[in-house]
Amino acid sequence: MSAPPHRLRPVRPGDAPAVLAAFASSPDMVRQGDVTSLPQAQEMIGWLEGPSRRGIAIVHDGATEAGRGGPGGGELVGLVGVSIEEPHSLGWFFYWLHASFRGQGVTSRAAAAVANRGLRPVADGGWGLERLELGHRVNNPASGAVARAAGFVHEGTERQKFLLDGERHDVLTYGRLRSDPVPSTSELPWSR
Ligand SMILES: CC(C)(COP(=O)(O)OP(=O)(O)OC[C@H]1O[C@@H](n2cnc3c(N)ncnc32)[C@H](O)[C@@H]1OP(=O)(O)O)[C@@H](O)C(=O)NCCC(=O)NCCS
Repeated sequence: MSAPPHRLRPVRPGDAPAVLAAFASSPDMVRQGDVTSLPQAQEMIGWLEGPSRRGIAIVHDGATEAGRGGPGGGELVGLVGVSIEEPHSLGWFFYWLHASFRGQGVTSRAAAAVANRGLRPVADGGWGLERLELGHRVNNPASGAVARAAGFVHEGTERQKFLLDGERHDVLTYGRLRSDPVPSTSELPWSR
């Protein structure tokens, strides 16, 4: 059986061109940050490598749209990020994927793997967090599907939270506790 084409590893500075390509791949990426140039992509990677953050690259081991895979390759096509509030053992969870790779369950499998590791005790190789949380606009159902696949539970609705293009949008909030069930979603494999 051939190895799966997608895997996970920590984001690194050399990922900047691929981050820029992902942000250029779809207009919906604009809500994930301000990245329209290489320096902005580098800045985002620097932010993700900060002490209270985990930036996990979803990499694809094949030819990519930009053709930058390289030997042994694995170009970043997406990201799962966690911004950690240490005193509360709490992580704010987020994710995005280059538009060319969507609709194949990739982010669901990546988010499940990262959430499972995030909530696992340090003694068991995890990050020792007690709670993960996220929010998505109600008109972004794919994000909710990813959250549920990664074991998150819908906790509430923040009504009319954001003003976008002249319209207000509700935000659905999700959380997953260490004590919640581990989802059955198969995890993407990890590599260095
Ligand atoms: C949200 C996002 C990460 C999903 O990535 P993806 O790899 O395509 O997601 P998956 O394939 O793992 O799963 C998507 C799920 O959403 C479902 N879905 C996709 N589009 C949908 C739609 N318009 N309505 C309802 N469900 C939808 C899919 O059917 C799938 O569910 P299933 O596994 O039950 O069939 C991707 O669309 C993205 O990067 N969007 C822009 C950034 C973003 O919005 N991030 C979330 C911020 S809160």
